[in-house]
Amino acid sequence: MNTPAQPAMTLSELADEHEEKMLHDLNAKLPAKSVLFGMADGKIEIANGNATLAQNPGKVFNMGEDPRLPKMPDKPTLMDFLRLRMASTMHLLQSARHARLAGLPEKTVLACLLHDIGVVGFIRCDHGYWGAQMIEPYVDEEISWAIRAHQALRFFPDESVGYTYPEQYIKLFGAEYKPEPYVVRAYEEAKNHKWYMTSRMITVYDVYSFDPNVTVELEEFEDIIGRHFRQPKEGLGWDNTPASHMWRTLNWPSRFL
Ligand SMILES: [Fe+2]
Ligand SMILES: [Fe+2]
Repeated sequence: MNTPAQPAMTLSELADEHEEKMLHDLNAKLPAKSVLFGMADGKIEIANGNATLAQNPGKVFNMGEDPRLPKMPDKPTLMDFLRLRMASTMHLLQSARHARLAGLPEKTVLACLLHDIGVVGFIRCDHGYWGAQMIEPYVDEEISWAIRAHQALRFFPDESVGYTYPEQYIKLFGAEYKPEPYVVRAYEEAKNHKWYMTSRMITVYDVYSFDPNVTVELEEFEDIIGRHFRQPKEGLGWDNTPASHMWRTLNWPSRFL
């Protein structure tokens, strides 16, 4: 038996909805697109502010939250950013679960959980460096160090822990790809470091973490985050650390200035 169709909207309901949308569009501020966003399309350009205003009489530019994006709480936590600003967290969650089930220390599990936040929430290029910088003020140095170093270590094998160059990279970058000198240098420095193995574990639990059939909930790591991530009481971004601006930008990415 078919389920009965939803009753159609009445004309006056349709009119109300239309009016509401008009009001919303009228009040919506103009989002600003940063130069970097266009570079990925091969363009180096910036819209002229006055010209854009002339095309949109009565409007002003967005200087706050972007209503097209999920609403963030006033005092956002790391969990809020993971839920509301990351394109996908499944890779991170799967990595962290592998590390946890392997019995690795909680700090290493958190490093696995956050190792690619640069990629999934911010920018791909040099993602280890960006990701480490974002969390640096809030975690033990070992965690951010490990995330920064995984950027280089993932390109270099370590037979002692069974890590080989990922097949996936041959597919993604071609068989000819060789890491740039700065990556080689970072690897050489990292491999003699006291926290080398923490970072190496990120790469070990990284490559096995692309199973589309496994679902892991963020709540599984709420305790570990609580114990090892120093959430600022003002909310991430509204505190005053060398990384606060990065969280603010992620919160309000289309702000004009
Ligand atoms: Fe990575
Ligand atoms: Fe990864």
